[in-house]
Amino acid sequence: MSAAMNFRNCGSVLVTGASRGLGLQMVDSLATGGFSPGKIIATSRNPASTQKLQELADNHPCIHIITLDVLDQESIEKCVEEVDQLVQEEGLNCLINNAGINVVADFHTVTAEKMIENFHTNAVAPLMITKAFLPLLKRAASRGAGGAGSMGIQRAAVINMTSLLGSVELNWGERANTFKWYPYRTSKTALNMVSRCMAVDLEPEGILCMAIHPGWVRTDMGGSEAPLSSEESVASVLSVIGGLTEKDHGSFLNYTGETLPW
Ligand SMILES: NC(=O)c1ccc[n+]([C@@H]2O[C@H](COP(=O)([O-])OP(=O)(O)OC[C@H]3O[C@@H](n4cnc5c(N)ncnc54)[C@H](OP(=O)(O)O)[C@@H]3O)[C@@H](O)[C@H]2O)c1
Repeated sequence: MSAAMNFRNCGSVLVTGASRGLGLQMVDSLATGGFSPGKIIATSRNPASTQKLQELADNHPCIHIITLDVLDQESIEKCVEEVDQLVQEEGLNCLINNAGINVVADFHTVTAEKMIENFHTNAVAPLMITKAFLPLLKRAASRGAGGAGSMGIQRAAVINMTSLLGSVELNWGERANTFKWYPYRTSKTALNMVSRCMAVDLEPEGILCMAIHPGWVRTDMGGSEAPLSSEESVASVLSVIGGLTEKDHGSFLNYTGETLPW
């Protein structure tokens, strides 16, 4: 049985960037997979233009769509207020920082602006969002089901959707020659460090924090040649997230559950 079933013991999950790609698929699979958490909070910077998400929400009352532009601090704070109203004293159990962009540029075409643009969305925004949601995550953690020592999505967790391309150690040989993407790679390396730093800071609160690579997936970002469908990737990702315990706190995992080198 997939550990994704543990989502049934999770009161609320928030997914950023749920308009399309992996974010939309996570919302879809959580709602329709037979293991729905109490509340699925799907955020999008422009909900009115995301017809598939609207249709899903129409068919599944557990889905709540909230506007969130991850680059806009005011938008982040407004989103926290709306989520607060929704989850009330239960707090937020699982925050999935999924929204991301890929600004493709090699050594010759990269500019400071391209680096900063990618860095802001992929590394700075997840940190600012997690900071803003901390009171809600702490509330959920303090009510934690399995006692003070337990960690996992049934209590409180921050999941950062990272990439294998952010691994410094793996950026050598064939992989390094194929994807010479300075902005994207470095933004995900920074996100990995953000994840690790947050794991240190959030541990006393009992909030699990980790980074996961979803595989190479056929989305707008992954392209049509990617080996995995979004359904396949998300089934594995949700199984890994569902099975997280204290031993996974501060980890960098593949969608298969294996540990990846930093
Ligand atoms: N696909 C892969 O092969 C792959 C591999 C490794 C890691 N990942 C990571 O997985 C995550 C999802 O990737 P994906 O393939 O699903 O990408 P995608 O199809 O390009 O979707 C990206 C999502 O991020 C949202 N987003 C971007 N900037 C935003 C902002 N400022 N505010 C709010 N939302 C924003 C987009 O919203 P809009 O519709 O409004 O633009 C969209 O929902 C990313 O973090 C990516 O780096 C993907």
